[in-house]
Amino acid sequence: MIEVQNLTKRYARHEAVRDISFSVARGEIVGFLGPNGAGKTTTLRMLTGYLPPTSGTARIAGFDIFRQSIEARRKIGYMPENVPLYGDMRVREYLNFRAQLKGLSGGDTRRRVGDVLETCGLQAVRRKMIKTLSKGFRQRVGLADALVHDPELLILDEPTNGLDPNQIRQIRELIRRLAESHTVLISTHILHEVEMTCNRVIIIDGGKIKASDTPANLTSQMRAAGRIQVELHADPEVAAGALKRLEYVKKVVPETLEDAWTRFTIWVDSDTDAREQIARLAMQYGWPLRSLFRHVATLEDVFVELTRKD
Ligand SMILES: Nc1ncnc2c1ncn2[C@@H]1O[C@H](COP(=O)(O)OP(=O)(O)O)[C@@H](O)[C@H]1O
Ligand SMILES: [Mg+2]
Repeated sequence: MIEVQNLTKRYARHEAVRDISFSVARGEIVGFLGPNGAGKTTTLRMLTGYLPPTSGTARIAGFDIFRQSIEARRKIGYMPENVPLYGDMRVREYLNFRAQLKGLSGGDTRRRVGDVLETCGLQAVRRKMIKTLSKGFRQRVGLADALVHDPELLILDEPTNGLDPNQIRQIRELIRRLAESHTVLISTHILHEVEMTCNRVIIIDGGKIKASDTPANLTSQMRAAGRIQVELHADPEVAAGALKRLEYVKKVVPETLEDAWTRFTIWVDSDTDAREQIARLAMQYGWPLRSLFRHVATLEDVFVELTRKD
């Protein structure tokens, strides 16, 4: 659906996007994740034909976004970072106007605007002035606008930016529903967002792609994955010694807690789970055990690791 090859964008002095290549298959929901200034918006604006690249190409459904821009854009529903809405227009009036700009006929406009008002939960506010709407509803108008010409691909630039937690949940639900019938590329700097909605993540930083994989694969590669914590009522030295003798255990660090409890942090080879062995050991020695868990790396660990400025 999207094919990006060696895309570069240089502003006056600054190279915002540096020779990136990636593709998105039909039906995927891909999170485009990176810190502020990483080059997300610049990339999305090139993909949607709003910004010419310095070099490289982007194809949407096989159409070159610059040489076949009309065909390519017809496939794309784009919601920019700051949705430029006309505050003095009413919701339905605005969507009619946008549909006509996008070349829909009168009949199609009526039908599609009706559909997107319904899909985006805007029926109740269709006669309201846009400027009187909350930010959450304005984002929905932005989404309705992106959807009105019935595109196959949705490109959303930080769609939940500036919303409160309830609004975020509603927009996320809406996006998830849309993802059932669309290919979605969604940029964000919020990790949680990607973990909740996307089946693949592309991490970008300093204009370069640092990783592209499923959230699960990214997190399982992390060193942090191989860490177990156990709290035992036991002599710290004896217990640390016994834990160290277990197979796969690389390092044990005890930490004294209250009332003779000790927390042991245990590093193991990253793909092994030694919890069962540890529980059995505690039983053998008769040590009371009150907590045992494996630290699972989060996408945040991956993100910090990949975008750390050393
Ligand atoms: N029109 C512009 N002129 C010059 N530099 C720009 C322009 N737009 C963005 N930049 C710079 O390019 C880099 C990437 O910006 P952007 O694509 O907006 O990142 P993101 O969306 O990931 O926060 C930033 O360093 C930003 O300051
Ligand atoms: Mg941006």
